[in-house]
Amino acid sequence: MNTSGNTILITGATSGIGLAFAEHFAHLGNTVIICGRRADRLAEIKDKHPGMVTKECDITNEHQREELHNWVISNYPEVNVLINNAGIQLVTDLTKPVDLDMVRMEMETNFIAPVHLASLFAEHLKTATDPSIINISSGLAFVPIAFMPVYCASKAALHSLTLSLRHQLKDTPVKVFEIAPPSVDTELGHQRREDKTQTHGGIPIQEFLSEAMEALHNDILEAPIGQSKGLRAKGDALFGAMNH
Ligand SMILES: NC(=O)c1ccc[n+]([C@@H]2O[C@H](COP(=O)([O-])OP(=O)(O)OC[C@H]3O[C@@H](n4cnc5c(N)ncnc54)[C@H](OP(=O)(O)O)[C@@H]3O)[C@@H](O)[C@H]2O)c1
Repeated sequence: MNTSGNTILITGATSGIGLAFAEHFAHLGNTVIICGRRADRLAEIKDKHPGMVTKECDITNEHQREELHNWVISNYPEVNVLINNAGIQLVTDLTKPVDLDMVRMEMETNFIAPVHLASLFAEHLKTATDPSIINISSGLAFVPIAFMPVYCASKAALHSLTLSLRHQLKDTPVKVFEIAPPSVDTELGHQRREDKTQTHGGIPIQEFLSEAMEALHNDILEAPIGQSKGLRAKGDALFGAMNH
């Protein structure tokens, strides 16, 4: 894809990978529209990058997703890239009755929202210039780490969905990318850390970003990044080792 001159909607760009993509794409001369739930973060980002467009939105709410779609199409009809990035990561103990509200929230954020948003934007994107849908999955889509079973299942579902979406759009100009990050040092899963200011480790975000941008620039439609490559390649063989 061309990495400049686009109008890009990024879900969940108040921190981490979404924010890194937003800042980098803005730097490359794209119009960047970001959304998230935290209004204070959106305001801080707007102060730092006045050219960035911010929109408060909870993507677990289907009406807010529809509103986001209608608002973007009305105000930025030149939008040609959707990045389904927003995600949450929860620990789920399947040996006890699960909290179904949490299971539903994780699936709604990581899977149902990308399905819905891709379908809402697809019709418009078919007629846009150099259009793309970019789904941010995970290396854990390919091999689950068993203490986060719903998270991994949501990402495996997003991986499968991306294959079907790409197939359904194959006779259109819309390119469908999947970027599968490895562990990247962001706020993901911060709710389970005692010190909320601590990140969870993983590779530095700029290292992730430069490999992901190279994949997008070179039209590598399925791009496992860093250690995710090994997970994609070795699949089931690694399940035992990761859960030893
Ligand atoms: N970091 C990693 O190691 C890693 C590895 C593989 C895949 N990923 C994937 O990369 C993506 C970005 O994660 P990250 O690591 O950058 O984590 P992060 O720093 O926690 O960022 C997550 C983003 O998602 C947004 N979000 C969460 N729920 C939302 C909702 N209901 N509505 C709107 N926005 C919502 C958050 O914004 P608000 O809180 O403001 O709503 C935040 O901007 C996720 O899909 C994640 O699964 C990350």
